[in-house]
Amino acid sequence: MAAQAEPLHDIAHLGSVELFTPKPEKSLWYFRDLLGMEPVHQSGPSVYLRGYGDYATSTLKLTAAANAGVGCVSWRATSAQALERRAKALDDAGLGLGWSNGDFGRGRSYRFRDPDGHVMEIYYEEQKFVAPASLHSTLKNLPQKYTGRGVCVRRVDHLALLAKDVEANRKFAQELLGFQLREQVRYDKGKTEIGSWMSPTAIHHQLAYVVDVKGAHGRLHHFSLWVDNRDDVLRAADILSENGIFLEAGPSKHNNSQGFYLYTYEPGGNRVEIYTGSFLVMAPDWEPVTWDEEERGTGTYWGATLPDSFIQYATPNVEGEGARQGA
Ligand SMILES: [Fe+2]
Repeated sequence: MAAQAEPLHDIAHLGSVELFTPKPEKSLWYFRDLLGMEPVHQSGPSVYLRGYGDYATSTLKLTAAANAGVGCVSWRATSAQALERRAKALDDAGLGLGWSNGDFGRGRSYRFRDPDGHVMEIYYEEQKFVAPASLHSTLKNLPQKYTGRGVCVRRVDHLALLAKDVEANRKFAQELLGFQLREQVRYDKGKTEIGSWMSPTAIHHQLAYVVDVKGAHGRLHHFSLWVDNRDDVLRAADILSENGIFLEAGPSKHNNSQGFYLYTYEPGGNRVEIYTGSFLVMAPDWEPVTWDEEERGTGTYWGATLPDSFIQYATPNVEGEGARQGA
């Protein structure tokens, strides 16, 4: 067996994702009233929200902007020392943007860009969420009452970013952030890397890079929120349909990740996935699963084929038709 590099454990988990929206009021309605997330803070053009099971104060930052897309993707470090180590490594790699005093509920943070240009940051200090009296749970280990409002998503799960060069970004996530590669899609007898799914945790993937068929940079494919079972995904389809929300794909089951999914567009235009059922990975020597064209198929294990928009549409939107590859 080949000697393995000592794994990095400097990143603990995905902390939060900032989404830009040109329709802030309608996007807030979607996340608060339909998905059941709780707004906890407002600052300038941004509203901060959380799922009832998120133990961080906030896991979604919704920011009014001219165009839809992804803002800052925040990762929590495993310690103050880990934060310093990663900041130095990212700075040495020429990707650093510098330190800030931290966003709402957090201590000092280090910002950087991935090779494709997406903005990210790492922080360690975090304010523990203290529920107001109206949101106290009678269950001591639940940070906030299960309100049952709308879909009532439990927590943030992952996000998928588009990248012009998947391989370069996958290597960055493995080597500089220490993420474990879980699955890949490779075409052309393995030569072309179409997508890579990675994680710093036991969660199957917290970050995916998928090829941008339009050759753009810094775009979002989707942001994913977790519910506990398939019934909740089916119920989400009913609730969102009743409220005129576009359902792009699902409920169906992916082959890669085994996830049971529903893809919708929030009113601002970003693709949001309601997700459950994927498996956990605890093995330190996990061998990535690679899918070729034939094995990957349409990306579904069963259920309706993913529509062409799943490959072509991302935020911010770029007009025109890209060369068809996987996603
Ligand atoms: Fe996903």
